[in-house]
Amino acid sequence: MTPTAPDSEFLRDVVAGLSEMPKSLPCKYFYDEAGSRLFDRICRLAEYYPTRCEMAILDRHAAAIMERVEPGSVLIEYGSGSSLKTRRLLDRRRCAAYVPVDISREHLEKSARALGHDYPEVEVLPLVADFTEPLTLPRSRHDGAPRVVYFSGSTISNFGPPEAVRLLRRIATVVGPGGGLIIAVDLKKDRALLEPAYDDALGVTAEFNLNLLRRINRELGGDFVPERFRHRAVWNEDHGRIEMYLDSPSAQLVHLDGRTFTLSAGEAICTEYSYKFSRADFAGLADEAGLTVERVWTDDAGLFSVQYARAR
Ligand code: AVJ
Repeated sequence: MTPTAPDSEFLRDVVAGLSEMPKSLPCKYFYDEAGSRLFDRICRLAEYYPTRCEMAILDRHAAAIMERVEPGSVLIEYGSGSSLKTRRLLDRRRCAAYVPVDISREHLEKSARALGHDYPEVEVLPLVADFTEPLTLPRSRHDGAPRVVYFSGSTISNFGPPEAVRLLRRIATVVGPGGGLIIAVDLKKDRALLEPAYDDALGVTAEFNLNLLRRINRELGGDFVPERFRHRAVWNEDHGRIEMYLDSPSAQLVHLDGRTFTLSAGEAICTEYSYKFSRADFAGLADEAGLTVERVWTDDAGLFSVQYARAR
């Protein structure tokens, strides 16, 4: 692949992150083609509980969740990656329209076509957009209908508290007063369960993390040597988050875009924060954003939750 234009946002973000002290790289860049494939493998790992728990919650509680949604509503999905979960909701036949929102047009159009075929009574209106920015929904036959946002996968975990409140506030604005939010929220739990979920025995998460360096090499012409980095994941109890790093065991130089970045022996690049929430943590964030959590469903072990909140 040819290096991206030198003014790309990706290059700017990478240069900024490597210039800071401590160094960091934004986790949103994990998901190129190879990264997305590795993430799919993470979701099937024995240690990675979130995907299985979320699916179990939907399998058991989709009817109860959708009972909260008025018939004829518009369902807006943020980051509509796997439509498998969405199908559990659409199966309850309460949505007149479905607006999947994703930054990847290719992904979006493919899954929108399949859903349109399988749910012919639902108006499917795919929207290519970054949901962290203000959204303009496509015009539809159901413009006055009640709105519900579906935010799956505990993607909210990648947002620190202030950004999470900002995003939730945006959602409250999109659905309007009385509108709903169905959101997957990963829960706080023992370190002994959390850390292996982000540092699995097969090393898939390590490959996922290292792929970020490979992507920088491929797309931005960097010269990272992935073999000179080590994946590390730790539970930071004080901040309530998993922190992922790429450690540089020895001193090394990395070149990118005519610049040289120095890594000292033992220096780490932070690549991801994944926040976990107690029920009270999330209820507090939602409340600050003008949303009231009305119900919480969990899996049997209480590891993960799907929550219904309403905009005030
Ligand atoms: C997609 C943010 C929910 O934090 O569990 C999984 C990403 N990173 N393994 C998570 C991830 C490493 C995932 N989220």
